[in-house]
Amino acid sequence: PGAAPAGPSTLTFGELTHGISPRDRVPEGYEIQVLLRWGDPILPDAPAFDPASPTAEAQARQFGYNNDYVDFFPLPRGSRSADHGLLVVNHEYTNTNLMFPGIGTGQAARLGTTAAQASVEIAAHGASVVEIRRVDGTWRHDRESRLNRRITGETPIRIGGPAAGHERLRTSADPTGTLVRGMLNNCAGGNTPWGTVVTCEENFNQYFGGDAAETGVQAAMYRRYGIERAATYAWDRHFDRFNLDREPNEPNRFGWVVEFDPYDPESVPVKRTALGRVKHEGCTHAVCPDGRVAFYMGDDERFDYVYKFVTARPWNREDRAANRDLLDEGTLYVARFEADGTLRWLPVVHGQGPLTEANGFRSQAEVLIETRRAADLLGATPMDRPEDVETNPATGRVYVMLTNNGRRTPERVDAANPRPRNDHGHVVEIVPPGAGTGRVDHAAETARWEIFLVAGQPGAVPGTQYNAAISGNGWLSCPDNCTFDSKGRIWIATDGAPASSRVADGLYGADTTGEGRALTRLFYQAPTGAEVCGPKLTPDDSTLFLAIQHPGEDAGSTFERPSTRWPDFREGMPPRPSVIAIVRKDGGTIGS
Ligand code: FEO
Ligand code: CA
Ligand code: CA
Ligand code: CA
Repeated sequence: PGAAPAGPSTLTFGELTHGISPRDRVPEGYEIQVLLRWGDPILPDAPAFDPASPTAEAQARQFGYNNDYVDFFPLPRGSRSADHGLLVVNHEYTNTNLMFPGIGTGQAARLGTTAAQASVEIAAHGASVVEIRRVDGTWRHDRESRLNRRITGETPIRIGGPAAGHERLRTSADPTGTLVRGMLNNCAGGNTPWGTVVTCEENFNQYFGGDAAETGVQAAMYRRYGIERAATYAWDRHFDRFNLDREPNEPNRFGWVVEFDPYDPESVPVKRTALGRVKHEGCTHAVCPDGRVAFYMGDDERFDYVYKFVTARPWNREDRAANRDLLDEGTLYVARFEADGTLRWLPVVHGQGPLTEANGFRSQAEVLIETRRAADLLGATPMDRPEDVETNPATGRVYVMLTNNGRRTPERVDAANPRPRNDHGHVVEIVPPGAGTGRVDHAAETARWEIFLVAGQPGAVPGTQYNAAISGNGWLSCPDNCTFDSKGRIWIATDGAPASSRVADGLYGADTTGEGRALTRLFYQAPTGAEVCGPKLTPDDSTLFLAIQHPGEDAGSTFERPSTRWPDFREGMPPRPSVIAIVRKDGGTIGS
């Protein structure tokens, strides 16, 4: 289906025109299937969704709020099935104003939230695992599957790695510092070669409130991670563990990468402290020639950093159980982008360089708890909000989504962040040694880097950079998540195009090599207020899953008067963050 390609692109779908509308759009010949909506029952004993009187008990058995990361784990495990699998989805945060009737917006919503409602919000965070199947062309979930699972802000999660048990991780409920209730603000994620999920805690700071009358390293930590007296949510008003006066160490137990086995609903998730504590956007892997595994990560804050972790040992292909704690041992690195195109990976290792007791680090555990301060001292390059960092399996090149940074002044511009007041973001490409060959060294301590594109509307915004053949609809703003198809083409999801751009968020496809390199083309337009997350293709590229997050989100929107009621469009039914499946009506390859 679709028209002839624009210029030299290998993508042949008929490109959409930019616009903003209550309903989402795909090119001619494609169809959108709404697969899972906030509130859909996914555990066998879950009640039907009742937005008028939500309860935590119901929510903990239903699909959560604000789906972000999406992954597809084929069933049976180890197969390349494209019509049967486990969908793994993060539930990053909640929009209080759109969840509860009469709650209002802003500070009124925070002060009006009851303990029961706060419990609903906590139950709406976390992740879902849902068995799905495509029958006669249509994707459906199996709500009776014994593999379905909800992880929430209350699920017991073990702490593993060097920081486990550290005194700064101990609380009155957990004097051992090894067991946390829940994971929070899980944004993007990734998977491992051994078939587990790594899901990432991002803006955990906003759940904690109180006077925070701390001094020394703890006060410095609060500042560096944005933990403030006034929380965004009401949880600290109802539950001691979110109150900094009662439990000053509780925030130290968030901001980690969490690993769990989607194929075992009884498995206990583990916070892998060896991968550092930052506002983790995502965590995606690439296997080194010697079998060790590198994990790339972004810390999503203005002027924060890009990281990678390399396991100490190779992964074991024959014995899955042997990989169980592989992520507890390895080396964490932070990136310095030199002006000459060299990338240096600086080890974030206790005792090396400035990471010593004189600077307040007595152990690797303390380096990891304050990863940001360690990276500051190492001289890492402050980036324009690093979101997804993913490897193109066809070339081994690594793509860094830098979503925006309106606070970068002309004085702070550098080669890798070349635009002052960067409201539209850009994409940097890392070229590890051996990229383009079958032996890409993702463990190396140096690489090369280049700019892939600089976003925004050409002509209207200074400093944009795309393929010269880009159409009037192919430009994008605020790259956030990405994925690659089996031909090595990149698919970029956006979040937060400035209102002045008058475009909705969307999904854009582009070649990464050849004459169509960086020629982005608009494939999907989100409904009003929503961002697009978690692009994920089935192994045969025949289905594209997208997480449509925070539909209807804008400053004045409430349950009664949302700016959209996507996807149900029924009176009394609020907008519902949902995962959609996009297929071609003729069953062919997405994008062609
Ligand atoms: Fe949750 Fe970095 O977006
Ligand atoms: Ca998000
Ligand atoms: Ca994101
Ligand atoms: Ca974002």
